[in-house]
Amino acid sequence: MNIKEHERTSLADWKGIIFVTDPTWGDNGKGKVVDFLATRADMVVRTNGGPNAGHTVVNNYGEFKLHHLPCGIFNPAALCVIADTVVIDPFTLVEEIDSLKNAGIELDSDRLLISENSHLIMPWHKIRDNLREVARGGGKIGTTGRGIGPVFADRSERMGLQIHDLIQPGLEKKLRHEIDFQKDLINLMNYGAKVKLPEINFVELLGKLEKITDRLAPLIDNSIKLIFEYTQLDRHILAEAGQGMLLDLDRGTYPFVTSSHPGIAGFNLATGLNPRRVNKTIAVTKAYTTRVGTGPMPTELIDETGERIRKIGREFGTTTGRPRRVGWLDIPAIRYGAEAAGANSIALTKLDIFDDFYTIKICTGYEVDRQIFDRAPSALPDFLEKIEPDYLSLPGWEENISDVRNYDDLPENARYFIEEVEERIGLPIELISVGPAREQTIYR
Ligand code: IMP
Repeated sequence: MNIKEHERTSLADWKGIIFVTDPTWGDNGKGKVVDFLATRADMVVRTNGGPNAGHTVVNNYGEFKLHHLPCGIFNPAALCVIADTVVIDPFTLVEEIDSLKNAGIELDSDRLLISENSHLIMPWHKIRDNLREVARGGGKIGTTGRGIGPVFADRSERMGLQIHDLIQPGLEKKLRHEIDFQKDLINLMNYGAKVKLPEINFVELLGKLEKITDRLAPLIDNSIKLIFEYTQLDRHILAEAGQGMLLDLDRGTYPFVTSSHPGIAGFNLATGLNPRRVNKTIAVTKAYTTRVGTGPMPTELIDETGERIRKIGREFGTTTGRPRRVGWLDIPAIRYGAEAAGANSIALTKLDIFDDFYTIKICTGYEVDRQIFDRAPSALPDFLEKIEPDYLSLPGWEENISDVRNYDDLPENARYFIEEVEERIGLPIELISVGPAREQTIYR
């Protein structure tokens, strides 16, 4: 497939609405891309997930690990929105707000809006997450332990607390009711007291919530109305997903998935906007593939090369510190994920990690029963476990590219790598990242 030049529009002067997502298992560098693009944004919306995400941003203010806050938060002219499809651990959120305050960034209601319907992660959600993982035994998902599955389950069951409950008079009664119910549920799940669990203390929790409510209250509002108003005024909106499409509850490698929607469906749920209004949906992928937690990963390298990429790429979970599983770039998986996420553009990150590699492989197809698929036909774990990856070896460039700022200044073999990957994914690569800092980015 040929990428036609007219499909490549400059991101340097983007307008309208851009959605940044991830075609595989997260951790591909959305944070960096959003921080970079946000300099032109009037509004930045985080669309899904919760504190299971860990978005790393390195810019003039320092290095930050963001879990809830949109990575556009460093642009003082942009209003950042946490959509109500994002679940919130209010204590972690306040810590994040404090980490920005320490860097001299005050977040008032002109800078941050927390959608009033966002569900709250409470201590019992983390306990249930842990208990469920213990019960799964060998089949565990390897969750981040942040209570994500249980809070989304409660949300589907139409129970639990939403962030606006913090500022309403009935909080005490609601919290009491919730704690009684959750304690019973946890005792049932932990029948025979197999797991030693932390105590949930009503008075202590209420006190801690009251303490942070004053901080959060001015930021809580209706987001849908405001997002709509921004679109009416033709403002530039950047939307940012958490996780990646292969972790999507419906389209991912179920059950080894998260509980939300990182693709364009998640954008729609979060913003209430017709996905057709999105000018560009950018799927961000590293030059290799990683995954945290269990579940299929066709190109995983359990050898010295995998170790080497993990070490150079510093592939350890931002949220949990766990070593990430590492493998060669999995193009059939990217094609599946990019398509399911509604992507029409690619950002390629961490290209510099291969600076010292003599050869670099990319997986170009999945082979099964003498058939070859250049796009994963299914994300079912059973299918992905039985395929054999076909690899193509490409020559490395063996020089430092981290200071390159123009596409044409990249070594020939680096450009060859990019163009080969682009052709095989079938979408234009429009942004290339050659280091963690904001400025280490190349427009194509
Ligand atoms: P949960 O979202 O904590 O329930 O975890 C479900 C699966 O998604 C596990 O395999 C996690 O490692 C993975 N996961 C969740 N959030 C992220 C993320 O932000 N990056 C990468 N993997 C994630």
